Amino acid sequence: MSSETKQRDAFSSTLAALMVSLGSAVGLGNIWKFPYMTGTGGGGAFLVLYLFFVFMVAVPIMISEFVIGRRSRMNAVGAFRKLDNDPRSPWAGIGFMGALAAYLIMFFYSCVAGWVYYYTFKAATGVFAGITADKAGAMFGSAIGAGTAGGSFFSAAVLSPIFWQVLVLCVIGAIISLGVSSGIERAIRIMMPILFILLIICAIRALTLPGAAEGLRFLFHVDFSQITPSVTLAAMGLAFFKLSLGMGTMITYGSYFTADSDLSTAPLKIAIADICVSMLAGLAIFPTVFSFGVEPGAGPGLLFITIPLVFSQMPLGQVLLFAFFLLTSFAANGAMLSLVEVPTVWMSEEFNMPRKKAAILNCVIIAVVGVLAAGSADSSSFFGGIKVMGRGFFDLFDFISSNICLPLGGLFIALYAGYKMKKEDFRDELTNHGRLHNEGKVVLIRFLLRYVTPLLVLIIFLNSVGVLKF
Ligand code: TRP
Repeated sequence: MSSETKQRDAFSSTLAALMVSLGSAVGLGNIWKFPYMTGTGGGGAFLVLYLFFVFMVAVPIMISEFVIGRRSRMNAVGAFRKLDNDPRSPWAGIGFMGALAAYLIMFFYSCVAGWVYYYTFKAATGVFAGITADKAGAMFGSAIGAGTAGGSFFSAAVLSPIFWQVLVLCVIGAIISLGVSSGIERAIRIMMPILFILLIICAIRALTLPGAAEGLRFLFHVDFSQITPSVTLAAMGLAFFKLSLGMGTMITYGSYFTADSDLSTAPLKIAIADICVSMLAGLAIFPTVFSFGVEPGAGPGLLFITIPLVFSQMPLGQVLLFAFFLLTSFAANGAMLSLVEVPTVWMSEEFNMPRKKAAILNCVIIAVVGVLAAGSADSSSFFGGIKVMGRGFFDLFDFISSNICLPLGGLFIALYAGYKMKKEDFRDELTNHGRLHNEGKVVLIRFLLRYVTPLLVLIIFLNSVGVLKF
């Protein structure tokens, strides 16, 4: 009897740790970014590349982050210092770079979350009933302040997306400073299955639209001629971004896993659950794209243009549309809580600042710099004409974080787990001190971490900057 109770407890905590990690992974990445990048990346071939990177790069790195996290029971900076027994361990730099990546992601993520809030509000007023594709495109343009370049900054069109972004950050700041994050995270865990069901409804509706088959063809037909070095880099960056890897978030979550959780299988479960959510979003969006004649490579607006169309001529459509955006905003909040956490921990430790103060200060910093993202989502936006490294701010923040910071952080995490960490310690953590018979897996994972994952990241990097050509 007592061993039964013990087992049940252990199961429920592993499940809880899985759910918390999923709460960080599932977000706008699945519903907004994955479909639009699959659209601009050419469809099926991008999907195949993305899945390849999830299993060959992201999953081994998530295992490493969990192992480092559970072994040290520390945050990303403290973890390396403790495991190395050296307060000046250079590996702690991974944690600092993670804080930089978290800022860059938040600058544009909070902006997109602002669009979701705005759409939730608009959906409640019923303006999307019976909408056409042209109108949906125009509405998105005005939501993000397209066509405001050269006008006055202090116009409603420019200030509106900024207002919604600031509102998002006020909500996040309030959640953290009121100390209700754990309550909110629990609520998100209840909301996630509802969002999942809504996505299923959405996908079924989309799949029954006239011309839906063409969308399926786009999503599943693999045409490798679409693949360029920059598309490959983007697919790898998305795998990192999607699974919240390469900046130490999952090191923190690794520390939540109980001593008897199997760290070799948990990342696989998280990756598969996450892929299911992304695929459902894809199945809702691409049939709609082709049924209504939207451009599949429309970019960041794809979600916002197609979802109102899915629900436009459906009984109860407007209620479902409102619920869809409301739940998406919850998913976005969950991911953002895990993002703001990173610089908050870093700042409060480094400058000896109370947590609350650090969290609010970070939200203010993100709101101020985030204005640049809100004003550059389209090339005709207010700041849209300003290009750095050939990109507007919105794209730049996204590019540097997903395609440079996260893969670089992931590379070092893989190298740490594969080369720096003692083989015995690595095995000990993956077998739960010898209680699990994972020996074969340990050999495989360590092989990937030493010879496959880091090389892949390096090759894709060098290929995209043109040093290597293949
Ligand atoms: N994975 C989240 C999404 O797909 C975004 C996210 C949350 C993230 N925390 C992160 C990305 C940490 C990178 C690192 O929406």
